[in-house]
Amino acid sequence: MISVVLLGAGNVASHLYKAFQNAKDVDVKQWYNRNIKAIDSYKNDVDITDDLSSLVEADIYILAVSDDAIEDLSKQLPFENRLVVHTSGSTSLYAVDMKQKRGVFYPLQTFSKDAEVDFTEVPLCVEALKKEDLPLLKSLAKAIGCKSHKVNSDQRQGLHLAAVFVNNFTNQLYRIAHEITEANGAEFDILKPLIKETANKIETLSPYMAQTGPAKRNDKKTIRRHIKQLESDHHKAIYDLLTKSIQKTHGRR
Ligand SMILES: NC(=O)c1ccc[n+]([C@@H]2O[C@H](COP(=O)([O-])OP(=O)(O)OC[C@H]3O[C@@H](n4cnc5c(N)ncnc54)[C@H](OP(=O)(O)O)[C@@H]3O)[C@@H](O)[C@H]2O)c1
Repeated sequence: MISVVLLGAGNVASHLYKAFQNAKDVDVKQWYNRNIKAIDSYKNDVDITDDLSSLVEADIYILAVSDDAIEDLSKQLPFENRLVVHTSGSTSLYAVDMKQKRGVFYPLQTFSKDAEVDFTEVPLCVEALKKEDLPLLKSLAKAIGCKSHKVNSDQRQGLHLAAVFVNNFTNQLYRIAHEITEANGAEFDILKPLIKETANKIETLSPYMAQTGPAKRNDKKTIRRHIKQLESDHHKAIYDLLTKSIQKTHGRR
């Protein structure tokens, strides 16, 4: 049995809490949040607290708090030499205070409180300053059904940067597509099979091989027509930049 104290009550902490509660080999000993109201509804299921001085002993302390809060919160922990990990993709391992055994437990997935997450589809990137702490982090990942990946800080920060492109930027492009369909009285839903196929295709083809469209073909007339069709200068600039990026990749300029 792996005992855990969870700190934070946002998107990631809420999903981790549910996953730990469903795992037979994990015992959530305590749940901390600076604002106790956020976890008050769980008070009958788990020991909740907003008082760092009352934290109980556990195998792993998980700081699932905003990136900027990790360093400060870890400094305030009233004990030493325990395994303390954060869940951030971009924050240094060294943000965890040096008086602790330091690690990272980064779930590479997008978490929103109201959207279900299938943890068997969450790659868990684990890192530990001392290699003897890694097996416990891997066991915790396994206990909630995740495949773990041992990465170093450079690899993790690279994955996080890449994740911004595949998730945040792609989602913003969906948003722009939504605006375009609305402006033209078309249904965004008609694009959903294309969105799914674009994602499915990279199971069998590299992103390079999977590319299609006017930029790759260098269909100049279509490109000019699209830019003219766009109403916002901002959208024109994004179209132009991405078109140039595709053309550069495919040797068109
Ligand atoms: N969301 C994702 O998709 C995702 C995916 C992978 C990793 N992560 C990482 O997971 C961590 C948490 O992200 P999240 O999306 O769960 O964040 P979030 O929903 O914004 O929640 C942030 C949590 O941090 C707490 N917090 C903020 N400032 C604090 C401070 N100064 N002292 C103590 N607690 C503080 C908040 O407490 P209050 O409730 O009191 O405000 C809240 O519980 C981040 O490191 C993030 O990079 C996020």
